[in-house]
Formats: sequence, structure tokens, C-alpha cells
Amino acid sequence: MVYEEALKKLSSYGQKHLLAFYDSLSDEQRASLLDQIEETDFSVISALANEKANTARGELSPLSAMTVAQIEERKEEFTRVGLQAIRDGKVCAVLLAGGMGTRLGSADPKGMYDIGLTKHVYIFQRLIENLMDVVKESGTWIRLFVMTSDVNDAKTRAFFAEHDYFGYKADKIVFFKQDMAPTVSFDGKVLLENKGRISTSPNGNGGWFSSMVRAGIGDILKDEGIEWLNVFAVDNVLQRICDPTFVGATILSGYEAGSKVIRKANPDEKVGVICKEDGRTAVVEYSEMTDELRNSVDENGDYLYYFGVILNYLFSVKGLMRALDEELTIHIARKKISCIDENGSEVKPEEPNGCKFELFIFDLLKALEGCLPYEVVREYEFAPIKNKTGVDSVESARKLCAQNGIEL
Ligand code: UTP
Repeated sequence: MVYEEALKKLSSYGQKHLLAFYDSLSDEQRASLLDQIEETDFSVISALANEKANTARGELSPLSAMTVAQIEERKEEFTRVGLQAIRDGKVCAVLLAGGMGTRLGSADPKGMYDIGLTKHVYIFQRLIENLMDVVKESGTWIRLFVMTSDVNDAKTRAFFAEHDYFGYKADKIVFFKQDMAPTVSFDGKVLLENKGRISTSPNGNGGWFSSMVRAGIGDILKDEGIEWLNVFAVDNVLQRICDPTFVGATILSGYEAGSKVIRKANPDEKVGVICKEDGRTAVVEYSEMTDELRNSVDENGDYLYYFGVILNYLFSVKGLMRALDEELTIHIARKKISCIDENGSEVKPEEPNGCKFELFIFDLLKALEGCLPYEVVREYEFAPIKNKTGVDSVESARKLCAQNGIEL
């Protein structure tokens, strides 16, 4: 893209200031800025003006889960069907590792964090060990797609290579980068990271499938006849990946998705809850729930909104392909964003000064034909690492690993 084209594109979005320092840049910096302007989708900025309408919720109603007891009754059948699908190469894993991991406070990708006590046990390693259980059980190498971002891609790839892919088959792992979104000030002006670079941030974990397709992986899915993708977060070190019983239960449900869920520890636990919204499966976040909703019970006194999502979903590729045409809600997060001001001076804010645009994975559920909420036992399958200490931390995850006989 040449300067005039960039100016035209920016003018149409009211963002001409991004070229304010153009004259002071080297030829290389100018080219890189023009490339970035060409690649950037500025249309997301309109979400700022429409935030209220975009994020307004429809009519919520409760959705129950297939319980642990119900799963146990049909375990053999589910496992048989799931294992067959895995052996037929119809099921793959997708690791979402594009997040910034800000709460953990490490500059490295979250998966590089070492939770070991007597030896090195990296988060990525734990996840691969979990996946290896199913590789062994099924006698099949399962393809693993790893989503990174511009910020952590090089480090993530190098780390896997350095550790010999933690014993996984290297040619079964495919890395791809998620899309980035521009960040803006509260009044909708795109921020500059420096004079020659627009400030961007990963566009949330909901853009994973469109990013995957943009990276050319749609062809792999088609050529290899892959029908199901088990998508999971980087930070739950106990989760079962491509769990045959979950895969079989979802396939037999006839739905286009399955979601692992846990019973909330109490109505106030801060997890998103699976429910129905205008008749479609949806997730309502803790912050969106009224006291009335949180505490509503059925005739037996059981809580109605009580199954929390743990970011471990099985999605049908057919459904995902169809959903590519649907617009997902753009969520706005107000954050502290380092940038430069109109004089070119560095700004390191102490308080939120701008907005990031994010898509959420659970918004995909609304676009699919049904979802099976599948209950798992939290003590066996849920040890998320969000913080260093306290709730959902390295500390709590270490305890849970010990309870499950995992040596650290
Ligand atoms: P979180 O919402 O916990 O965010 O991500 P995070 O970036 O890991 O941590 P904080 O909030 O900055 O402390 C849940 C999952 O979604 C992935 C994360 O890598 C994690 O697996 N994710 C999140 C992405 O892949 N891309 C994103 O843009 C955001």
C-alpha cells in the first residue's frame, strides 16, 4: 500500500493521525507502517459506539447438563464411539495460547511457565502429557493445532522445538497466529505503540477458527476429513484433551458442540455459566448475572444457573464453517495500554486509558445447532492457572496436581 492509499483508508475511519510521524520515519519503518495500515481491520472500532446494543443480552433461561452419573451409565458406549472417531482421524485438538497472560505477570507465553517443584514441569508439557494419554489409549497420533499471537509466536515455537515437542510427534503439531485488533483511546482514536507502529492486541479467543482458516488450515481439515475440534485453554493443567468419552457423548447427542462444565462451588463463584439465550445455547458471564439469576432454584431447591464452563469445547467443523459467515459480538475491555501521545512522548498509564476489542469463544455456541453441556468433576479436571497465588493460581494448581498423583 502506498502513502496516498493509506491516507485514504485512514480518512474513511477518522484515523489520519496514525501518519502524523510518517516524515520522521526511515524508509523501512515507513514501509512497515503502511503494511500494518493495509492489514488492519479498523471496522472493529465502530463497536465502541454500539457497545450497549451489541452486548445487550436476550432472554436467558436455564440449561442443565448431562451429569457425571448419567455419563457413567453410558460410559462404555460413549468411549467406544469417541475412540473410533479418534482412530478414524476425525478428531483434532486446538490449543488456545494467544492470550497475554497478564495476571500471571510473566513476560513469556503462559505455557512456558514452570510449575515444577523438584523438576521442570512446564504448562505446555503438562498439556502434551494429558494429550499423550489419549494417543496411547487410541494408538493414534492426534493432530494438535496451536494458536499463538504476533506477541508470542516466535517464543512459543522455539520453546516447543527446544524441548523436542515434549515427546509429541513434531509433524502432528501446526502453529498458527491469531488475528490482532487495533487498540483505541476512550474516544475511539487508534493508539500508536511508537511513531511507526499501530498499537494492537490479540483479538480475543473467539477469533480462533477464522484465524485458523485464514492461515490455510481449512485445507488440512478438508483433506484429512477432520470433523471435530476439541478447543481448550492453555491454563488448565488437569484438563483431559480429546477425552474419548466426551467426544463420543457429543457425537451421539446429535448436537454441533459439546462443552465440559463443572458444578459451581457456590452461586458466587466467578465462572461463566452455560444457559439458553433466546432459545440458543449461550454463556452468561458472572458479571452479567443478577443476584436473582444467581440464586434462582428449581422445585427441588437446586440452583438453575449452576454449570460453569471451563473452556474445553468440542465443535463440529461443519458447524464452524457455517458460523464463519456470522458476526460475533465484539466485546470491549478497558485496559492500561502503553503508547505514545500526540507529541510522540511515551505514555505508561497507571489507570486504564484505552480499549481493546475481543471476541469470545463462547459466542460461537449461539451460531451452532445445539451444545451438550457435559459435567466433569472439578477436582479431577479443573486446575486453571490465572494468577501466581490465591484462587486459580500456580499454588492451587500444584495442590490439585498432587491430589491427582502428578509429580511436579
Ligand atoms: P484468558 O481470558 O484467561 O486470558 O484466556 P489470558 O490472556 O490467558 O490471561 P490474562 O487475562 O491476560 O491474565 C483464556 C484462554 O484463551 C486464550 C488464552 O491463551 C487462554 O488459553 N486466549 C485469550 C487467546 O488465545 N487469545 C486471546 O486473544 C485471548
